[in-house]
Amino acid sequence: MSVIARQIGQCFAAEVEGINMAKPLSREDVTAIHAAMDRYAVLVFHDQDIDDEQQLAFTRSLGDLEHAIGTSLRAPDEYRLPTTFADVSNLDKDNRVFTRDDRRRLFALGNRLWHSDSSFKATPAKYSLLRAVSVPSKGGNTEFAYMRAAYDSLDTETKELIEPLICEHSQIFSRQILGFTDFTEEERQRFAPVRQRLVRTHPTLGFKSVYLSSHAGSIVGWPVPEARAFLRDLTEHATQRQYVYAHRWRVGDLVMWDNRQTMHRARPFPVHEPRDMRRTTLMGEGPTVTQAA
Ligand SMILES: [Fe+2]
Repeated sequence: MSVIARQIGQCFAAEVEGINMAKPLSREDVTAIHAAMDRYAVLVFHDQDIDDEQQLAFTRSLGDLEHAIGTSLRAPDEYRLPTTFADVSNLDKDNRVFTRDDRRRLFALGNRLWHSDSSFKATPAKYSLLRAVSVPSKGGNTEFAYMRAAYDSLDTETKELIEPLICEHSQIFSRQILGFTDFTEEERQRFAPVRQRLVRTHPTLGFKSVYLSSHAGSIVGWPVPEARAFLRDLTEHATQRQYVYAHRWRVGDLVMWDNRQTMHRARPFPVHEPRDMRRTTLMGEGPTVTQAA
């Protein structure tokens, strides 16, 4: 079967036909998917009737897996899914919807802010693969913004200003924006900030993009309020509607995106409805601070 990627909505998003994730990928399929991810930054695969093992196998055929250990407020005995998955659902381990004021839900509301997955890890995520197992009756879209276009459209002065900058990222910063601040001492240590470049260069194609995320809470060497105001301005610029693709989920969709050149956010949906989304993640090449901008 030949693989076809057809642009949808934005220049950086495409729908892919010709992939059945229930079956092992051929070498040609793997090459075609990587080529499509180089050409686009968001790929949509519809009607994938697969289970967790098949999602894992598909993910592993494309690279090295990133595990999700200690990145949420779920205690180790509260995990619904193995740590090969990031549980992006609003469900507890017995598949019950979190109550409105559940601490784990409130922490996870950070996903409503523009971010890049695992930017709070020293080696952040490369690709994320999110599969819709159940979707709410309305809302719950995921929106994507293209950080390559955001970079290209900056003026020369701003490009020169941000080129050498290093930011500090932590989930504590993103949650602080929403007024979630009641972290335990253990959580504060677990979510200690890591450093990331603000300008990234695509490792094989060589273009630049801004590496923004709501997890970014400071710029090394800058006063904090000035850094936050500046990052907020940059984020506002980068997430203008002309750079945004909004994905409306159907059960069986799997969307794969490149965290190195996009940000994304989840949109609201009815509180009491289940939204079961399961993410596998491919690890990035290494810490961005050791990569040339
Ligand atoms: Fe995310």
